Amino acid sequence: MFRRFLAAQFARPQGAAGRFLVAPLLDWTGGPMMEAAFAALDPRAGEAILDLGVGGGALSRRLAGAGVVVTGVDPSDIAIARAQRRTGGKATFLEGRGEAIPLPFASMDKAASVNTVYFWPALAPVMAELARVLRPGGRLVLGFQTASSVRAWPGHVHGFHAWEDEAIAQAVEAAGFAIREIRPGHSARVGDYRTLIALGVAPWNPKA
Ligand SMILES: C[S@@+](CC[C@H](N)C(=O)[O-])C[C@H]1O[C@@H](n2cnc3c(N)ncnc32)[C@H](O)[C@@H]1O
Repeated sequence: MFRRFLAAQFARPQGAAGRFLVAPLLDWTGGPMMEAAFAALDPRAGEAILDLGVGGGALSRRLAGAGVVVTGVDPSDIAIARAQRRTGGKATFLEGRGEAIPLPFASMDKAASVNTVYFWPALAPVMAELARVLRPGGRLVLGFQTASSVRAWPGHVHGFHAWEDEAIAQAVEAAGFAIREIRPGHSARVGDYRTLIALGVAPWNPKA
């Protein structure tokens, strides 16, 4: 029962539990993965970077602190409100989903999404959206636990998608990205994880 509740909160933080328990917990559990994503982004002041699935807001805050023009997108109003508070107005947050990112074509220099792939029933629609909003040559960074790490938590049966590395890599390439590197990582908090770095090489504008 508690695992089902927690799985739903991880998928979309809600209510007082989402605000006071789950969002801070996400920052803690995902901390090493977000640091790995931050390094992989190699952020420069003034760059426009999308944080898709902001959760507790730790990555957005870290990026805003580095002078990045951050836009965070998340379906959870709790996550958005917390990220807004934590970045002190230095970043923009929009309610939305990876399947329909509320941003214009080629508007971002880079994009990161950490610990979110498990909540995408299909990878292709989100990859296509990431390819759409990134500028030509823009960098994509995905942080995700390996499928076996996801399955190691019994609560994953409540709606998590345990994607294999190969499935994620294929979806990234099918959307027109060129994978530069898949860095392995391990954290006592989440087990084995990956940091995938790709560049958009074949941008397309569905509205052109
Ligand atoms: C487990 S949290 C991870 C948050 C943060 N990136 C981290 O690593 O701690 C997943 C976040 O993704 C968001 N999310 C769920 N489904 C999403 C979707 N389809 N598109 C974008 N974000 C989504 C949730 O609301 C939640 O804030």
